[in-house]
Amino acid sequence: MVLTLKILVTLQKRRFVGYSAMQVALNEHLPRENKVVLLGTGLSLLGEEMMLDGYKLVDAIDYSEPCIKRMRNRQEKLEGLEKVGVNYQVMDVTQMEYKDESIPSVLDKATIDTMFNNEDNLKSVHSMLAETVRILEHDGLYVCLSYGDPDSRLEVLQDKRYDWKLITSSEIKKNKAVFYLYVLQKNNLKDASETAAVVDSWWWWKVHSKSV
Ligand SMILES: C[S@@+](CC[C@H](N)C(=O)[O-])C[C@H]1O[C@@H](n2cnc3c(N)ncnc32)[C@H](O)[C@@H]1O
Repeated sequence: MVLTLKILVTLQKRRFVGYSAMQVALNEHLPRENKVVLLGTGLSLLGEEMMLDGYKLVDAIDYSEPCIKRMRNRQEKLEGLEKVGVNYQVMDVTQMEYKDESIPSVLDKATIDTMFNNEDNLKSVHSMLAETVRILEHDGLYVCLSYGDPDSRLEVLQDKRYDWKLITSSEIKKNKAVFYLYVLQKNNLKDASETAAVVDSWWWWKVHSKSV
């Protein structure tokens, strides 16, 4: 019995990529001083692990009341150095209660994968992404950790209706598990092209005004 349990735990660990495997990538893309909203937190300890790693403000949301209740109760019982203050909230990621352009960083670990499995023709995926774009500040970041490879995810993530640009995609591997990391930045594309156009016209004017 004990052996079976140990085997199950080991198999589970192999199937999941824990915080230590994703820490470097998260630290690189999500500044610790920025508020982070975790989409579809479930029973994951990710929010707590991030706060123990120095993240100051973490909201972890899920539409499942039992999940959020359990996570709040768990957190209340933590003591000493383990005591952190994740703000667990019951909220639907397709209808978030945040104001427009009020959040600098959004993190999604595998919730997009759940949405992809919904039999609604990607309606919930698009609702979640549209809401994410809405709440993100200018230049804000959406970091998506998904089991889906670029062939299955990029078309949706890079849909033209979203005012953001993919700034990086990479693989995070641990044992036999692979996560794909996608980082998208709001407004980035529009601003970059606008800035380039302004700089180009300035150079054109400078060069041509001298030769006249
Ligand atoms: C695959 S689990 C991911 C859990 C967690 N992020 C993790 O890494 O372990 C997906 C979670 O998304 C939540 N979820 C699904 N649809 C949602 C929605 N529309 N609004 C809020 N949460 C949702 C589910 O309740 C579930 O906890």
